[in-house]
Amino acid sequence: MTTEEEKRLAAEAAAMLPEPGMVVGLGTGSTVAYLLPALAARRLDIRCVATSPATAQAAEALGLELEPFETLQRLDLTIDGADQVDPNGWLVKGGGGAHTREKIVAGASDRFVVVVSSNKLVAALQPPVPLELLEFGIAATLRALGDTRLRDAPRTPDDGVLADFWGPLDELERAADRLSATPGVVEHGLCRPEMVSEVLIGTAAGVQRRHVS
Ligand code: 5RP
Repeated sequence: MTTEEEKRLAAEAAAMLPEPGMVVGLGTGSTVAYLLPALAARRLDIRCVATSPATAQAAEALGLELEPFETLQRLDLTIDGADQVDPNGWLVKGGGGAHTREKIVAGASDRFVVVVSSNKLVAALQPPVPLELLEFGIAATLRALGDTRLRDAPRTPDDGVLADFWGPLDELERAADRLSATPGVVEHGLCRPEMVSEVLIGTAAGVQRRHVS
């Protein structure tokens, strides 16, 4: 089975999770691109929050009802992809540069379901970790971080600068704390297992479900 088929399998399984009346967060990326039509085809009475302009545009074109995320305080469920998943449920997110909005939406959700192809499973998370940085003071921020390269990518929708942290990840708690505590870092792409409810993995043998927290 190809990676694309695995992504589709996981995403289509996740599309069955929303129930009428729910507020559902929609992630960003090529796996979520399979989720959107499958969800739209169910014609449920749901409201959705998009984590990127690309997802908003695709969801709207499919007839999914979008809700702005300025007044909502919580969501029932968010479904999103990931770049890496470790055996304990730690994630690297942000390959598409949308991790700040993705983490805000996931963090406000009662349930966060991650959809991946099997090649996203790793024994241990590896650098790089995507970062969104403020432009103000960016040279000082890069110096404080060390091991960080600016990404050749457009600004985020929130005017952030994308970069990648290539430093060691052998102690994930410490790395996440350090990245969060560095002034000028808007958000990093490490997600703690406490944020993740479940991982759906597309495999040749079907969808594997891994409960995380
Ligand atoms: C975007 C993300 C994506 O969820 C992650 O990069 C996985 O993308 P894909 O489904 O295309 O492999 O975090 O910021």
